[in-house]
Amino acid sequence: MDVLEAIYTRRSIRKYTGQPVDDEQMQKILKAGFAAPSANNKQPWHFIIIREKDTLEKIAEKHPYAKMLVQAGCGIIVCGDTEKEDRTGYLVEDCSAAIENMLLAIHGLGLGAVWCGLYPNTERTAFISELLGLPGTVIPVGLIVVGHKAEEKEPSSRYDESRIHYERW
Ligand SMILES: Cc1cc2nc3c(=O)[nH]c(=O)nc-3n(C[C@H](O)[C@H](O)[C@H](O)COP(=O)(O)O)c2cc1C
Repeated sequence: MDVLEAIYTRRSIRKYTGQPVDDEQMQKILKAGFAAPSANNKQPWHFIIIREKDTLEKIAEKHPYAKMLVQAGCGIIVCGDTEKEDRTGYLVEDCSAAIENMLLAIHGLGLGAVWCGLYPNTERTAFISELLGLPGTVIPVGLIVVGHKAEEKEPSSRYDESRIHYERW
């Protein structure tokens, strides 16, 4: 899939067949995450792949908007390491760039995904940190639910001339 086509047609997928994402697909998705830009090229990310049903269920039970995680059968927690990047703003931006790269890779592979927010919701970040044994220096920034699609969505055109400014506001 052409890069612009991938960007223009990606949508959040919230219905899944349950068919597993295989290791080869997962490796391509992770490579896309690692390819993201980051402030001063610090690459402060870590990725935790979750496939165990029990863990998926615990997260879905706690996160009010990630119930589809169990049906998808796979999640990637994108974490930021404050020892690699101590400026939280940049840490979150770097991890978000990795997340978006992975969402596009997932879409390009014909799979579906949805980005579920963790940071800055402290209830969610504390729960994930405890559940997955994160070091105190690592922040769980976001959760990517990934799986085989059980729904198709039309591209959503959001182009809006009124939001574009030339030279000054
Ligand atoms: C930071 C962030 C957090 C999000 N959190 C959730 C979430 O918890 N659950 C969910 O179903 N979608 C979540 N989304 C997905 C948005 O709802 C979705 O991107 C938006 O409605 C636009 O739809 P689209 O992705 O299909 O273009 C999140 C998106 C972002 C960027």
